[in-house]
Amino acid sequence: MPVKVLFVTSEIAPHSKTGGLVDISAALPRALKRADCDIRILTPKYGNIDPSSFQGESTGNRIRGSVEFHNQKIPISFLEMQADTSAAPTYFLECDALYDRLGIYVDPLTNQDYADNDDRYILLSRAAFSLCNAMGWKPEVFHCHDWQTALIPFYLRNTSAGIGYENSRSLLTIHNMAYHGLFDKNTVRRIGGAEPYFYPGSPIEFYDKVNFLKTGLELADVLNTVSPTYAREIQSAYEYGWGLETILKRRSNRLLGILNGIDDELWNPETDSRIPFRYTAESLDQKKLNKKALCKRVGLPYSADVPVIGSISRIVHQKGFQILAPVLTEVFNLPAQVVVLGTGDPNYEHTFREAARTFPDRFAVTIGYDEDLAHLIEAGADMFIMPSLYEPCGLNQMMSMRYGTLPVVRATGGLADSVTDADSDPEHGTGFAFLEYSSEMLLQTLGRALNAFRDVGRWQRIQRRAMKMDFSWNHSAAMYLELYHFCLENPPWEPQ
Ligand code: ADP
Ligand code: GLC
Repeated sequence: MPVKVLFVTSEIAPHSKTGGLVDISAALPRALKRADCDIRILTPKYGNIDPSSFQGESTGNRIRGSVEFHNQKIPISFLEMQADTSAAPTYFLECDALYDRLGIYVDPLTNQDYADNDDRYILLSRAAFSLCNAMGWKPEVFHCHDWQTALIPFYLRNTSAGIGYENSRSLLTIHNMAYHGLFDKNTVRRIGGAEPYFYPGSPIEFYDKVNFLKTGLELADVLNTVSPTYAREIQSAYEYGWGLETILKRRSNRLLGILNGIDDELWNPETDSRIPFRYTAESLDQKKLNKKALCKRVGLPYSADVPVIGSISRIVHQKGFQILAPVLTEVFNLPAQVVVLGTGDPNYEHTFREAARTFPDRFAVTIGYDEDLAHLIEAGADMFIMPSLYEPCGLNQMMSMRYGTLPVVRATGGLADSVTDADSDPEHGTGFAFLEYSSEMLLQTLGRALNAFRDVGRWQRIQRRAMKMDFSWNHSAAMYLELYHFCLENPPWEPQ
């Protein structure tokens, strides 16, 4: 019998996207469905999601249900969609008052989190049960992701919402420990049935505030995160666990690291329709033409001998801009050119805009979210830089390897698990990695990469090896399937 899973996520590609979670929400259920899992997805219907734009997708029913919210029973509905027969059925939770907005978590007009983010994700978590009730379908596993759906384990075990789901289990996947879903203690009244569980040291409480992620970490039957190294790091120190590391350590025998995959159809240089020149490991000359196209597109002069270093990223502290920004001049002297695409922290955005004005031949920055340019950078750049302070998994280093764009990374989290340093392991090297979080080490490692780049034969050998790595979802999906079985074969978690 296929395992029945409700996959509850706050973002899903291509409909709502802020970062890597969306890629996972689209690709993993698809791979699991192929592996004969009865998997269904629940996600909010945000304002930018227009049902009439679901090209080729069958618009199914509108399922009606009701939910206990702020001590009232309110009606809600779910719009059923299935992209194609190999996709998992997706249920878009409709509640315009909470989701019909321009942004996902942050109001683009003020750059602030929406003040009612607690309500928005309380409703999503509660709605998981309403949807299943309305469908008359009992998932064996509620698969939750990050703080936005981390209250589900609480509802499952501690409230009347969980009645009838005693045999179901909850799995919480941690994509990033830095975002807790931390709210004022008054939020406890809005959760529904949570007041008796709010006291110092309780699962919901964190320094007199309500912490959604902590609730899930304490109560979910099983936990996992998106790379084996990150699974170890988050148990080891505050800088990775953000104050929740002792809980994770306590739960280590139910906490597993599974490296994400990438969508290898979407990210395939041989078939990618978004790049001007398609290529394989055997036709790397075509890659140079993409480099020319990239330089033209971002306004840099093209030079075969000067490497283009790409970066596509949320411009935030996590991604290591703190060690990159201060040494840009030294990077340009290597010599190298840098192409950045991203949005985020206005201070870094400003620094980058200034640097682009000062070094127009060396540096190009595009502030914004641009899928086409992202593909062109992957195809056209020679190297890809990810000096992350921490990185739960990271997808771009894997996409880069697939495109023969060698990653230069800090060996943390999923970067450590997916990139092998070509100097320390010449036979297996697929990129360049350093451990110490400093501008000096970053520069030194870029210097090593540049040396390798000058040796064309060696560079191409590393490129070919990187391009042949298998980062598809098949392997990771099989591990998730095993994890679902692990959830079912073990007794429910008994919190202390
Ligand atoms: P994170 O989830 O921490 O942001 P990941 O590496 O897991 O990092 O995933 C980032 C995803 O978002 C990748 O698919 C990347 O290409 C994409 N991305 C990030 N910023 C941009 C941008 N400005 N334009 C286009 N794609 C972007
Ligand atoms: C988070 C992490 C990133 C990871 C992604 C998907 O956004 O920052 O490293 O790849 O989730 O799991």
